[in-house]
Amino acid sequence: MTTVLVTGGNGQLAQCIKSISNDYPSLDFVFLGSNDLDISNTEEVQSHFTKNNFDYCINCAAYTAVDKAEEAPELAKKVNVIGVKNLAIACKNNNVILIHISTDFVFDGEAKTPYSEVDTTNPISVYGQTKRDGELEITSNLRQHFIIRTSWLYSEFAGNFVKTMLRLAKEKDELSVVDDQTGSPTYAKDLAKVILKIIKNQHNQYGIYHYSNQGEITWYDFAKEIFKQSKADINLYKTDSKRFKTLAKRPKNSVLDSTKIHTLLNLEPVKWQKSLEKCLKIINKQLNNVQH
Ligand SMILES: NC(=O)c1ccc[n+]([C@@H]2O[C@H](COP(=O)([O-])OP(=O)(O)OC[C@H]3O[C@@H](n4cnc5c(N)ncnc54)[C@H](OP(=O)(O)O)[C@@H]3O)[C@@H](O)[C@H]2O)c1
Repeated sequence: MTTVLVTGGNGQLAQCIKSISNDYPSLDFVFLGSNDLDISNTEEVQSHFTKNNFDYCINCAAYTAVDKAEEAPELAKKVNVIGVKNLAIACKNNNVILIHISTDFVFDGEAKTPYSEVDTTNPISVYGQTKRDGELEITSNLRQHFIIRTSWLYSEFAGNFVKTMLRLAKEKDELSVVDDQTGSPTYAKDLAKVILKIIKNQHNQYGIYHYSNQGEITWYDFAKEIFKQSKADINLYKTDSKRFKTLAKRPKNSVLDSTKIHTLLNLEPVKWQKSLEKCLKIINKQLNNVQH
């Protein structure tokens, strides 16, 4: 049996992993939420790894409040840098392979083509900077690592853009969404499958990888497709980042080139519209169950 610790066990990605974990009978999962294991607590992390025998750690724990991080950089650093360093060192001392999730926000968004793993990082937000610093803690402390950068995660779990759009469609008659940030939405369940394939196949080509669903769109395009597929009755308008001000700056173009991980795992690209369809089906089922 291969034992897999999943940190940040109550978050969106961790819940996606949990939802498919039965399909991997050779893997024995331990999901720990922030109350069970605070990754920023060095002693707690060390002692947990020493007392237990993990083969892999999937780090889904992160400070993900992008705008709040601008006002609370120390909090973001505590989780995304110190916490990640704690995990990297504990993994090294206990011969555990770390699979860590990072973000498209490590880039400044000025590129005209999709970002590859060797492109220069240049975060433009506190969140992006802490996620980049977390990556560096791993690469400088631990050889046995996979860092997977992903973008625009959504799923049937936790709060995310898709669920927000569905809620707003019920509450409002019209909505404006930014049309000057381009990226690729990623169904967190697709990412979960990618992570578990790395473990199942026991890959050892360690390093940084990019993974997102296929397609380059703006948030406006994403909202439009969500409303189209869910037959929502709402008027949608385009706006831009100048009019829709946020505390944190976001990259203009954060499309990731996922070729490297597709080659490693022999994956077919997954079109973002297809994955959205799958996710919306599940969300609708959940809503029907609640209503009946
Ligand atoms: N969401 C996106 O659009 C997106 C895009 C690109 C990359 N990513 C990356 O993908 C990963 C997963 O994101 P997600 O959407 O699943 O995030 P999420 O839903 O916000 O989950 C993060 C989890 O981390 C936990 N956490 C926070 N501080 C912790 C600590 N000190 N110790 C242990 N757990 C802690 C949180 O628990 P509490 O709620 O109890 O604090 C939460 O359950 C993150 O690394 C994120 O940076 C996300």
